[in-house]
Amino acid sequence: MKLAIFASGNGSNFQSIVDAVEKGTLQATVDLLVCDKPGAFVMERAAAAGVPVFSFSAKDYSGKEEYEQEILEKLKSCGVEFIALAGYMRLIGNVLLSAYEKRIVNIHPSLLPAFPGKDAIGQAVEAGVKVTGATIHYVDAGMDTGPIIAQQAVEINDGETEKDIAAKIHEVEHQLYPKTLQQIFEGSGKMFYHGSTVM
Ligand code: GRF
Repeated sequence: MKLAIFASGNGSNFQSIVDAVEKGTLQATVDLLVCDKPGAFVMERAAAAGVPVFSFSAKDYSGKEEYEQEILEKLKSCGVEFIALAGYMRLIGNVLLSAYEKRIVNIHPSLLPAFPGKDAIGQAVEAGVKVTGATIHYVDAGMDTGPIIAQQAVEINDGETEKDIAAKIHEVEHQLYPKTLQQIFEGSGKMFYHGSTVM
């Protein structure tokens, strides 16, 4: 499977996918990084891994449709078949949703539908929950609302800081994301959502 990863920041999940491809546990190639924050550390990771990068600043475009058209051209020229969002801090719009229907997934640091949107870990701490986790889901037009594919729980123990919890969630994410992508690509298990087949 020819993959593009979209990321805005550190890119530790990007790295875990690249590493799984190298190890052969994920049968895919990472053909493009799309980054909306020129200078983000994930771009250095891509350079080190030899992954082509398309970076852009949204402010240079008239709107989402215009920059997504350009992203779409890059995706097509790289032959990308599937998109994995990994810390990409923007909603996906109609241009990409319709071109890659049911072929865009995201990872989110909570057990959705709890704590969608920004600062999911801060929201969990604020709510005082004892269990949070990571979710991989299909992407739709909403904020972290698409059909859930996989989840893994992470306990919050007394005295743990947001930083401690973030580290534990990242550790889980780095296993869960490549493993789940491989399962999706193998087509193992149909994905159901509200009674209908997603894939
Ligand atoms: C991850 O926690 C992911 O769940 C969320 O953004 C974070 C990205 O971290 N969507 P990194 O850039 O992959 O290290």
